[in-house]
Amino acid sequence: MTYQATNEAGHAGAEWVPWRQAAERALYGPRGFYRRPEGPAGHFRTSVHASPLYAAAVARLLRETAEGLRTRVGEVALVDVGAGRGELLTGVLAALPDGFPVRACAVERADRPPGLDPRIEWAERPPTGISGLLFANEWLDNVPVDVAEVDYAGVPRYVMVRADGEERLGDPVSGADAAWLDRWWPPAGPGARAEIGRPRDEAWAAAVAGLDAGLAVAVDYAHRAGARPPFGTLTGFSGGREVRPVPDGGCDITAHVALDACAGPGAELVSQREALRRLGVSGARPPLSLASSDPAAYVRALASAGEAAELTAPGGLGDFTWLLQPVPAR
Ligand SMILES: C[S@@+](CC[C@H](N)C(=O)[O-])C[C@H]1O[C@@H](n2cnc3c(N)ncnc32)[C@H](O)[C@@H]1O
Repeated sequence: MTYQATNEAGHAGAEWVPWRQAAERALYGPRGFYRRPEGPAGHFRTSVHASPLYAAAVARLLRETAEGLRTRVGEVALVDVGAGRGELLTGVLAALPDGFPVRACAVERADRPPGLDPRIEWAERPPTGISGLLFANEWLDNVPVDVAEVDYAGVPRYVMVRADGEERLGDPVSGADAAWLDRWWPPAGPGARAEIGRPRDEAWAAAVAGLDAGLAVAVDYAHRAGARPPFGTLTGFSGGREVRPVPDGGCDITAHVALDACAGPGAELVSQREALRRLGVSGARPPLSLASSDPAAYVRALASAGEAAELTAPGGLGDFTWLLQPVPAR
């Protein structure tokens, strides 16, 4: 099957549009990349797919969050934003003790997959008025953004793109987008590029606003002020490989997240390595003595240490950033 972006009239997209609009259509339009039956797991491996240790760590974080809310709520909410096919929630429910009082809610633009655990609610938008843990693994990098490029005269302009991936410069960046660039990612001289993260800040703030109390966590590949990539990070993924970003529905379109710009009051940014260490996940090998006293346990512990090492690896998943945003009772 071929996937082709279409304009609103349903014809192949030969027109020039800003990247945010092009990515919106290519990822979430009627024939968009994330509508495809294989789901994200068919194209790349996230921490969720890498090991059940990840879901177990989120289950522990949920229990700690619930403990902090103990006196206020009977049932604690677990909201997974950008839930893919519900893999993380399925893993967390399996890792929680029997009878743990949780309301599990997947927030996803794609349809509910057949056969999903009926305890998992499926919604298009984050619920409101809930207390508990809101978790978003690799969601914000898929919230479409505009791209700015500085022209030869030093003016940041919107990058326009066609459905075949060809680009050209459009109007000068203006209004709230220009203010965002000035504040968070002033691009350097001619040729420099930046992704305008404002829609992600707004999406994150809206999701967090649905929590009455608890903790909101966004996990993504990220950069911070002072160390932004000078030419941006917009790229594509398909079939497990990085590809040229072509907004035709045939590949993922993603860009690293300025998580420091998303962070609200009291938020903390830590590496995945550190966040998982706090939740008891480490890549330490089991003691050799276990090999002789209990060989089967030794083999299991060794496999688990290998998975933990992947989740915390420098240069890999361990370099992801966790944005931890506490929400005091409103
Ligand atoms: C990279 S996948 C991550 C899936 C899963 N969280 C994981 O880590 O394996 C991003 C997911 O976010 C979903 N998504 C993007 N924007 C969304 C939105 N505004 N609301 C709900 N889901 C969204 C996409 O459909 C896609 O399934």
